[in-house]
Amino acid sequence: MAASKGSAVAHTREQWSGQLGFILAAVGSAVGLGNIWRFPGVAYENGGGAFLIPYLVALLTAGIPVLLLDYSIGHRFRGAAPTSFRRISRPAESLGWFQVGISIVIMLYYTVIIAWAASYTVFAATQAWGDDPAGFLFGEYLRVPENELVSVEVVPGVLVPMLLIWGVTIVILALGVQKGLERANVVFIPLLVVMFAAIVVRAVTLPGAADGLNAFFTPDFGALRDPGVWIAAYGQIFFSLSIAFGIMVTYASYLRRRANLTSTALVVGFGNSSFELLAGIGVFSALGFMAGQQGVAVADLETIQGVGLAFVAFPQLLSLMPGGPVFGVLFFASLTLAGMTSLISIMQVVSAAFQEKLGWSTRTAAVVVGGSAAVISTVLFSTTTGVLVLDVADKYINEVGVVGSAVVTAVVLGLVLRRLRELQTHLNDRPGVVVGGWWRYLIAIAVPLVLGYIFVSGIRTLLTERYGDMPVWFLTTFGWGSVAVALLVAVGMTLVPWRRPIDEFVPDALPGIHRSGARVGGAPAGPPPPRPTDPSGGAR
Ligand code: ALA
Repeated sequence: MAASKGSAVAHTREQWSGQLGFILAAVGSAVGLGNIWRFPGVAYENGGGAFLIPYLVALLTAGIPVLLLDYSIGHRFRGAAPTSFRRISRPAESLGWFQVGISIVIMLYYTVIIAWAASYTVFAATQAWGDDPAGFLFGEYLRVPENELVSVEVVPGVLVPMLLIWGVTIVILALGVQKGLERANVVFIPLLVVMFAAIVVRAVTLPGAADGLNAFFTPDFGALRDPGVWIAAYGQIFFSLSIAFGIMVTYASYLRRRANLTSTALVVGFGNSSFELLAGIGVFSALGFMAGQQGVAVADLETIQGVGLAFVAFPQLLSLMPGGPVFGVLFFASLTLAGMTSLISIMQVVSAAFQEKLGWSTRTAAVVVGGSAAVISTVLFSTTTGVLVLDVADKYINEVGVVGSAVVTAVVLGLVLRRLRELQTHLNDRPGVVVGGWWRYLIAIAVPLVLGYIFVSGIRTLLTERYGDMPVWFLTTFGWGSVAVALLVAVGMTLVPWRRPIDEFVPDALPGIHRSGARVGGAPAGPPPPRPTDPSGGAR
């Protein structure tokens, strides 16, 4: 973004160089830690092959529709989440800031997992975990205290990679949308695909791979009667597609006016799920190999979920595998790259929001936002308590924050402000697949009903069952506290005055549509829509 001098000069909003640059960045954001270590375990725990049914239903009924919603909001209103929502309706600005608040919480702990992956890329070369990967992870590396819940001993092995990751992220963001974010994705994503494909090919050719795939894909159709399985599928789709926390709104705001939005959403949505499926195939082939080596069934392996899967089970099987050091380095480097391309998108949500509201330049925002986040995240997570705080914050901010944000956004736009027809016309006024009226019904009715149910039952469970048997004060401080941080950002930042004028903004005129969104008749034919006087996204 051109540096703002706070004057009335027209700001030229930064743009992706083209459709491909945007697709790579959007795929980079979607494909992240959620795909590689979250999906395989979640799928396995929730019905194996049968999980693919709710997963696909969630992708088609909520994932792709909300992705299209995020794209249309960001592209039509040319701004980060708070700017775009404010341009839709003044009170909706706080919803945009709530999404920024969620991104702030997520980026604080997301960095830690990337830091572990980066460290393990080095450890993998020598298989530093020896023959006790669990002891190595929690003891030698993370130094989790045995009897204390809270301890603030700094762990240098986590602190140093975290600082490096923040440094790289700040530089990428300071370089801007095209020179920073786009270039990073253009390099990282093809590299990630090649490395990951090599790992999957190796994994499926290991002895015992078929047993792992059988365990993964054998459907337990009975699981489909369990609402928890459906909740898990919707939760996975939202986190994995990077929707409802400001990322796709912000990224779409840098697309050219005539960009193809709908086909792009399909490419990103199905591309992300294909990668996820590939990760499931690779991980379970490898687990099948490990089970065979240990003479047990895949179902009897101890750790096949979350942190344990990537940082305990994988090191274990790498030690057993011919060529383990090479594949270990490739696996953890893939995890690091996938995490980095998602982290930069999460931080851009925050950085762009501050640029637009406070008139900061790209560099100032990158340094101030990244610098503050680096300090807070290293204080919170590079200590021995970090691993527990991370687990709790992740659980609450996703189940309460992200799902809540999706429900409120769908209700506000679909039922309260009734802006879906305007957004549908915006999508269809450009090249690409035509979006039918079904999209409006999904957003206004199906998403609030299904996600509303998920939201309420998720909160009920959190209130009635103590997650991970942790003490109530710990869950309140770091779990509900994370949600409170997002709410405080929503309220606090909405009250801060805009340093750049916003209400002069005139969105694309859509034939037959008033700014209010009411249809006034007439087919959308005729000349292309006039360009707005200032297509900036500077918040004008
Ligand atoms: N979409 C990102 C992931 O899957 C956040 O990790």
